[in-house]
Amino acid sequence: MKVIGLMSGTSCDGIDAALVEIGPKGRSTHLIHFAIFPYPKKLQRELIDLATGFPQSVATVCHLNFYLGERFAEAAIQICRQAHIPLAQIKLIGSHGQTVHHLPTPKKEGTWSVRSTLQIGEPSVIAERTGITTVADFRPRDIAAGGEGAPLTPFFHFHQFSHPQKSRAIVNIGGISNVTYLAACGTLQEVRAFDTGPGNMVIDGLAYALAHKRMDRDGKIARAGAVHSPLLSELMRHPFIRKPPPKSTGREAFGRTLIESLCRKKKNLSTPDLMATIAAFTAESITYNIKKFIMEKNPLDEIVVGGGGVRNPVVMQRLAESLAPLPVRSFEVLGCDSRAIEAITFALLAYYTAHGMPTGMPSVTGAQRSTVLGKIVPAASYL
Ligand SMILES: Nc1ncnc2c1ncn2[C@@H]1O[C@H](COP(=O)(O)OP(=O)(O)O)[C@@H](O)[C@H]1O
Ligand SMILES: [Mg+2]
Repeated sequence: MKVIGLMSGTSCDGIDAALVEIGPKGRSTHLIHFAIFPYPKKLQRELIDLATGFPQSVATVCHLNFYLGERFAEAAIQICRQAHIPLAQIKLIGSHGQTVHHLPTPKKEGTWSVRSTLQIGEPSVIAERTGITTVADFRPRDIAAGGEGAPLTPFFHFHQFSHPQKSRAIVNIGGISNVTYLAACGTLQEVRAFDTGPGNMVIDGLAYALAHKRMDRDGKIARAGAVHSPLLSELMRHPFIRKPPPKSTGREAFGRTLIESLCRKKKNLSTPDLMATIAAFTAESITYNIKKFIMEKNPLDEIVVGGGGVRNPVVMQRLAESLAPLPVRSFEVLGCDSRAIEAITFALLAYYTAHGMPTGMPSVTGAQRSTVLGKIVPAASYL
């Protein structure tokens, strides 16, 4: 079955689209084509503002939900065109949407304890424009079942990267970073995974605030600076970094408030020194979480890294140094495009959901049970 997976992460940089061939019973995935459709700069800023609670009206949320639906639909149409595969051959689309808020910490409302998450990019628009059954909104069901609703990629990691002899940690450095632990010859129930803290989010935020750039491309700014140890130690005391799993986070913890406070601190630091310190913070927070919450109790043979952060050599070098002598490799070593992992995941999750099979992972998210994730918008010919 040919399925398209669509993803846009917390970096709000654009839509990752994967056209995937899924084997019988969802047991195998083969990537046919992958492409990234970047958001225009203005849209990226609007989404970051929305996600950080910058004053916005509910009209903006309403509008962006449908506007992103159009962009996701267009990405699905374009990826087929690029792969020379007619849209009619695609059986399903799995769309993660764009997270604009993620509040997994309970808030008391009378006798209720309410936790929530919000992804936008209206799947009705995707189904209508493409004529393809679309599965979207994968996180809320796991939250309703008592879980964090995140991370969801471990389901794919387990199926694709488990190894009979090697215990692996799979790291994704997106806007936020997360890690998945796959014990050698382990079962799905034994998988552990959680967010570790910032990925590129703080780096991107500072690059924009200080240099009006979308990112510190190739780590050029950070490379010219030196790490400020007292600030790094202070950042490492962030409660999320030290919190034991299950845990998930987003722009609420590592977005605007943190970036503004770092800009105030900047008085005593040069821009390169601050960027070098933040790149080290990204790497060290990942390392701390791997050592504390994985290696203290489990054997580990290698680390495999994906996500946009792989392209920042300053982050990657610090990560390799702090985890040495463990080998730190990128997905490409396993013959996989590291940028495509998340989009492939949502193609696979859509396949399972459409077949009524659960993909929620209580061992990862802390949910009370494994649920069938997502909402299905049927194409006209669904039955
Ligand atoms: N050449 C590069 N140099 C440095 N950072 C990069 C480069 N290419 C991508 N990135 C980083 O990767 C981010 C996008 O990564 P991605 O995995 O798409 O994150 P998300 O899942 O949050 O969208 C960019 O915002 C940027 O910070
Ligand atoms: Mg992205």
